[in-house]
Amino acid sequence: MLDVAYAWDRLAMPRSLRHFEAKWADRANPHSFSGVWRFHELLPFAPREQCVTVGEGQTLLHPSEGVGKYVGLRPGRLYLQYEGMNPSGSFKDNGMSAAFTHARMTGATRAACASTGNTSASLALYCSVTRLMKAVIFVGSGKIAYGKLSQALDFGALTVQIAGDFDDAMARVQEVSRQLGIYLVNSVNPFRLEGQKTIMYRVLEGLRWEVPDWIVVPGGNLGNSSAFGKAFRELHELGLIPRVPRLAVINAAGANTLYRLVEQEGLRWNHGAPSESLIRKFYDDMNAEKRRAKTIASAIEINRPVNLQKCLRALEVCNGVVREVSDQDILDAKAQVGAGGLGCEPASAASVAGARLLVSEGVIGRDDRVVCVLTGHQLKDPDATVAYHTTDQELFNKVLGSRGVRRAAFANRAVAVSNNLDEIVKAIHLYG
Ligand code: F0G
Repeated sequence: MLDVAYAWDRLAMPRSLRHFEAKWADRANPHSFSGVWRFHELLPFAPREQCVTVGEGQTLLHPSEGVGKYVGLRPGRLYLQYEGMNPSGSFKDNGMSAAFTHARMTGATRAACASTGNTSASLALYCSVTRLMKAVIFVGSGKIAYGKLSQALDFGALTVQIAGDFDDAMARVQEVSRQLGIYLVNSVNPFRLEGQKTIMYRVLEGLRWEVPDWIVVPGGNLGNSSAFGKAFRELHELGLIPRVPRLAVINAAGANTLYRLVEQEGLRWNHGAPSESLIRKFYDDMNAEKRRAKTIASAIEINRPVNLQKCLRALEVCNGVVREVSDQDILDAKAQVGAGGLGCEPASAASVAGARLLVSEGVIGRDDRVVCVLTGHQLKDPDATVAYHTTDQELFNKVLGSRGVRRAAFANRAVAVSNNLDEIVKAIHLYG
């Protein structure tokens, strides 16, 4: 694993985060418009004019009363950082703009990733828009939501479906990239994480540069959580924020490596030397038991997170906690997010379900200011949404029942009516 480190003392640094407000008035310049590159001073690994942008990062920090109430917070305390508004519909574009910038510096002509769907959609989009490289993507067979697969196909990426899951695809793509000299854009790539730091800069921007009490984020390959920890550590060291928020990383219960290692086995960053024997034993047991990740939140259906160590560092920096939530809780939280006006995909709702759990435990206080990161757009996985709201028991069982989901407490059922004016009017009176 590599890390990007800057000689900050040799760079001209802003004295205050308000410095970045000057970029708002310069939106005709693509590098000021980009939600990543308008913070260029905080990820200055390439000259600004050479940075790749397709207009990523036009996101929203949305205060949500409805979701706040569901989570158990007092009014005005919950915010949703809506990353689904990115060009490819997920937070991945933040990191992809940075990875493409670095790839261009190296002269790469092909880029690859393994993906549960969003990284591949993002890679494919950046390739098709910029024409800088050709995309090769590895996906687990039958493992990715159709919204995401359709993007990769539409954008023209070479799509390799591996007979296996994400963890298999991740292992293979590293071998293939090494053998063929292809530029790898998974979050093992440290430049990806540089781009993803900006999600937190935009959260601060949305709070007028005030630091929230909690950041809650789903955990899959652990790139985001690692990037967030790095962002806050650097801002604090640079004297640009007075304190660091706490971080909560939320696993799906069916893909809970981080939860088990940190909360049950006591694995810690330990000054950069986390217990390798503990990690090795965990994976040996996983192999022996043939344990595979399984969750409706397919984006985080990952048992071997490549950024495990960096995430441990982030948890240390941010006094973090890890929790696991069931698929049932994820889908109920997702329905609440949807009812609140901004939809998300299942994995993203793990953050809301996790925040709710932490409030019920008293770890997050009801007066705390909490930001849940909604990592991907509602339309990424319409199957899960339709199956949740359906009256068709067979569909429900097929898509959700097989994941242990038993009920849809917040289902908004479609009303079936005959094609008859009186019946339709009657139904509207009855249900409206
Ligand atoms: N949420 C969504 C919507 C994702 O697509 C992912 C990861 C995560 C959360 C987890 O983020 O890996 O930084 O902990 N998706 C990757 C992919 C693995 O291939 O698209 P993480």
